Amino acid sequence: MNGGAILQVRDLHKVFPVEGGRRLVAVDGVTLDVAAGETLALVGESGSGKSTVARCIVRLIEPSAGDVTIDGQAIVPLPVKRLPAIYRRIQMVFQDPNASLNPRMNVRQVLEEPLRLHLDLPAAERATRVRELVGMVGLTALHLDRYPHELSGGQRQRVGIARAIAVSPDIVILDEPTSSLDVSVRGQILDLLLDLQRRLNLAYLFISHDLQVVQHIADRVAVMYLGGIVEIGPTADVFRDPQHPYTRALLSAAPVAQWGAKRTRVRLAGEISSAIDPPDACRLVGRCPLAQPSCSDGKPALIDIGNAHAVACPVVIPAIPLERTPIC
Ligand SMILES: Nc1ncnc2c1ncn2[C@@H]1O[C@H](COP(=O)(O)OP(=O)(O)OP(=O)(O)O)[C@@H](O)[C@H]1O
Ligand SMILES: [Mg+2]
Repeated sequence: MNGGAILQVRDLHKVFPVEGGRRLVAVDGVTLDVAAGETLALVGESGSGKSTVARCIVRLIEPSAGDVTIDGQAIVPLPVKRLPAIYRRIQMVFQDPNASLNPRMNVRQVLEEPLRLHLDLPAAERATRVRELVGMVGLTALHLDRYPHELSGGQRQRVGIARAIAVSPDIVILDEPTSSLDVSVRGQILDLLLDLQRRLNLAYLFISHDLQVVQHIADRVAVMYLGGIVEIGPTADVFRDPQHPYTRALLSAAPVAQWGAKRTRVRLAGEISSAIDPPDACRLVGRCPLAQPSCSDGKPALIDIGNAHAVACPVVIPAIPLERTPIC
């Protein structure tokens, strides 16, 4: 990825102070780009920092350090009072539509709110846009007067998606958008997201635990472990030929297809390590079957191994050709 990216995240950090004056390093130097119209999936086990990355990008929480731009305009750093202009370009859909919709607002009010905040439309045009939006997400004008508790989980998430696309953003961050839904409606919501992406040329940063879904919908995938990206590349390449020991373990434990030749069971020792006061070393060092003494000498950088595929593990790339340069 390069200057053509719609979203650029550079060296993002988020540290939470915890008891005893210690520091929980939730996000530790994340760098990524998302191009117009593409889907970048962010995967990794629970607690690896995926949601914190998302929340920092849209400034729901304040990043500790880093730069984020949307189509060249800074989101981080930017004074909070200037953020509303940016929210026309970037929106977010949350995991739990119950929690993210105001129970006292009906669907019409939910969808009118971003239009009032971000677009200066006359009332008649606003009403037309609201009707258009419910149609785009597979609901009808009959749903407009309903409150969240009068909708099914799938319908509530459709409202969340309609709210996100109301102001025609360039990119939507989707944080586990289907994981709270009944399995029977997950496919419908994913199909809706793919359809909207095609029609509106939306870019998605798609956070998910479901590797089958990621394989189905993502152009590229970034794998996170304890606050950092350990591997990033085209989805087909990463699934067919995962390089980082963590990616191999993650994929070998998942029921995913298409990567037969390289499939070997990779097991990591123990549980995910603590993000509190982490040492300056590879975060996987205590669990990795390939660990070498050098893995404790600083945190490995992502190394480009070609075809826009990068890996943060010098052990699996023993002879790094000159053109393989660190990208962050
Ligand atoms: N407000 C907070 N205060 C303190 N620690 C936090 C806060 N929010 C997140 N964390 C910690 O930051 C780390 C990353 O959490 P985050 O929610 O980003 O993980 P995640 O990858 O989204 O996990 P999941 O897959 O379970 O949603 C965790 O150790 C979490 O406990
Ligand atoms: Mg999360």
